[in-house]
Amino acid sequence: MNYRIPRGTQDILPAESQKWQYIEQKAHDLCRRYHYKEIRTPMFEQTELFARGVGDTTDIVQKEMYTFEDRGGRSLTLRPEGTASTVRSYVENKMHGIADQPVKLYYIGPMFRYERPQSGRMRQFVQFGVEAMGSDDPAIDAEVIGLAMDFYRELGLKGLKLIINSLGDKESRNNHRNALIDHFKPRISEFCSDCQQRLEKNPLRILDCKTDSDHELMESAPSILDYLNEESTNYFKKVQQFLTSMGIDYEVDPTLVRGLDYYNNTAFEIMIDGEGFGAITTLCGGGRYNGLVEEIGGPTTPGIGFALSLERLLMALETQNISLPVQDRIDAYFIALGEEPKNAAPALIHKLRAKGIVVDADYMNKKMKAQFKAADRLGAKYAIILGEDELQENIVLIKDLESGEQQKVELDKVSQWILLQLEVKGE
Ligand code: HAM
Repeated sequence: MNYRIPRGTQDILPAESQKWQYIEQKAHDLCRRYHYKEIRTPMFEQTELFARGVGDTTDIVQKEMYTFEDRGGRSLTLRPEGTASTVRSYVENKMHGIADQPVKLYYIGPMFRYERPQSGRMRQFVQFGVEAMGSDDPAIDAEVIGLAMDFYRELGLKGLKLIINSLGDKESRNNHRNALIDHFKPRISEFCSDCQQRLEKNPLRILDCKTDSDHELMESAPSILDYLNEESTNYFKKVQQFLTSMGIDYEVDPTLVRGLDYYNNTAFEIMIDGEGFGAITTLCGGGRYNGLVEEIGGPTTPGIGFALSLERLLMALETQNISLPVQDRIDAYFIALGEEPKNAAPALIHKLRAKGIVVDADYMNKKMKAQFKAADRLGAKYAIILGEDELQENIVLIKDLESGEQQKVELDKVSQWILLQLEVKGE
């Protein structure tokens, strides 16, 4: 039997995982600066949470969820996204009651969607997302968008395009909804069965249909921007003013509807243009969800957030030939020669590591020459050599592998010596 990795998933091997760690660290640092705090929720939730939260007319709920029954007969689902879980936790832990509002949270973790795998579309992927709940100040919309843009910018990505739209408040959406029904109803039989179902339940979804995207009624469909009431219009204007004042370029696209049901007012996506990126050009998506907390059983609370996948980000970095400053060199390679030195080595190495020095050694019984080769391959800055004579004298030989210089150092001063040298070299 040959075991294979499941379709749409990937192993992240050591050479790649360093990049992942770098990017994750960047997300943690950025969130600290923006004062968002990390939340970790379970990988699975009650199925009903997503059906309600994400919306049962969405592709995610209709065809992409990994749903299973546990041994107690409960229907559970691997989370397809992070917003519903975060809101569930916010309500369950009564975060609406804490003094510091809005509650600003972020998460990094795997999400699961049963999609047709292709480049940039995985069945398991990692999202970095933020959610700010409790404020309906348009400045927080601009903050959330600014955070996402900063994240990409600080990693060096170019060619980003921020697309924004307003889906309006309840009243505006209802008026738009009725206009959409009037528009599509007479010819709905020309559309796919999904769209036919969406007509009454959620006609906005029709605009997002991939099957019927070329139908002539799509382009002439009523634009949400013509149905925004005064409040929604002013809100949208304010968000745009803040973005402009922050120096963030954007484009308004009234056809941007997003693939999840909970949005109102601000919706946005960050796209990337440029060759070599294939069909998937959306790096990040988000928006405002003022009804979601209530939908999930909490008090009426506004919220806004975004999520982006690290897989797509890494693809974009690769396309633009951006190499991350990750380095894999070790500080020292410990070479013990002879039986007694080999017996003494583990304790000495253990001490060096306790002082924060990155040390490796030979565990394959290699000859001296091969050990030096290994030290070179690992990019070691120093070789620490302990032979029978050195052990007798209570010293080691330390060879600077860059300059070739060699020095005797007393055994109990090795860590001190290396740390000082590393400091002098500015590392
Ligand atoms: P979403 O648009 O479904 O929104 O996903 C956000 C991002 O996750 C996408 O832009 C993309 O980068 C990534 N993504 C989605 N599906 C896949 C996949 N199959 N493979 C790789 N990457 C993928 C949400 O999930 C919302 N929860 C965002 C949000 C947070 N809205 C408000 N708060």
